[in-house]
Amino acid sequence: MSEPLLELAHARKYYASPGGQVRAVDDVSLSVAEGELVAILGPSGSGKTTLLLLAAGLLAPDEGSVRFQGAELAALSKREALAYRRTKLGFVFQSFNLVVGLTAAENVAMPLLLRGTDHSVARLQALEALDGVGLAARAEHIPSRLSGGEQQRTAIARALVGEPKLILADEPTGNLDSETGTEVLEVLSVLPRARGAATILVTHDTRIARAADRVLQMRDGRLTEPEPASEREGEGKGEPASACESDPTQSAGGR
Ligand SMILES: Nc1ncnc2c1ncn2[C@@H]1O[C@H](COP(=O)(O)OP(=O)(O)OP(=O)(O)O)[C@@H](O)[C@H]1O
Ligand SMILES: [Mg+2]
Repeated sequence: MSEPLLELAHARKYYASPGGQVRAVDDVSLSVAEGELVAILGPSGSGKTTLLLLAAGLLAPDEGSVRFQGAELAALSKREALAYRRTKLGFVFQSFNLVVGLTAAENVAMPLLLRGTDHSVARLQALEALDGVGLAARAEHIPSRLSGGEQQRTAIARALVGEPKLILADEPTGNLDSETGTEVLEVLSVLPRARGAATILVTHDTRIARAADRVLQMRDGRLTEPEPASEREGEGKGEPASACESDPTQSAGGR
C-alpha cells in the first residue's frame, strides 16, 4: 500500500479554559489517501475545525503526530510550514473569505501570486479555474456582485488553482441554502478528485455521505465511523448514479 497523503496518529489538542481543560481533539488517528474524499460530521464544538487546523499545520498537536507525505508538520520550520500551506493545501471556509475589493479572477489568482507566479500566467490560470467551476462569465465581478453560491465556487476555484494535494473545507455549505449547498457539494466532490487532490470536508450536511469515500463522525474530540458500510451501500438504491458517486475500493486504500 502506498504511503498515506496525510496521517494523524493519536493526535491530541487540548485547550485550557476557565471551566477546565477542553479536549478539542482527543486521540485521533486518521489516514487520508491521495485523491480520497473524507467527510467529517459532528455537532458544534466537537473539534472539527481544530482537526483541520492540525492538518494545516496551523496548530501543533500536544501529543501524537500529524504527517503529510511522511513529514512531521510540527518539525517544519515556519518557512517550510508556509510553503506547505501555499503549495500543498487549498482552503474552503464557511464564510468564503474572498477579498472584498478584488474581482473573482483576482481572488482566484491570489495563491499563485503569493507563490511568485507571473501576473499574466496567474490570470490565465485563474480564468481557467473559474471556468472549471462554471463561473467564466463572472470573472470580473467583485464578491458583493456574486451570489453566495458563486462566492463559494470562486473560493473553491481559489483553493484548486495551485493544484494542491489536499483541500480542507470547513462547513462550506453552512452559509448557503439547500439547493446552492448541493451545487457546492457536487463541485467539491468532483473537482478535487478529478485533479488528484484529496479532500477533508467538514459539514453538517449528511447528503455528502453518498459522494464521500468515507464518512466519519466527530464527537467530544474523538473520531469514529458512524455507520457500517453495508448501511451506506443501501442508501439511494434505485436512484441514478450521480457524477460524485464514490469508488468504494478507494476507502480501503486509505485506512
Ligand atoms: N482557541 C481556543 N481556546 C480554547 N478553547 C477552544 C479554542 N478553540 C476551540 N476551543 C474549544 O475546543 C472545542 C472544539 O472546537 P472546534 O472549533 O474545533 O469545534 P467545531 O466542531 O469546529 O465546532 P463548530 O461546528 O461550532 O464549528 C470547543 O469546545 C471549543 O470551545
Ligand atoms: Mg468549526
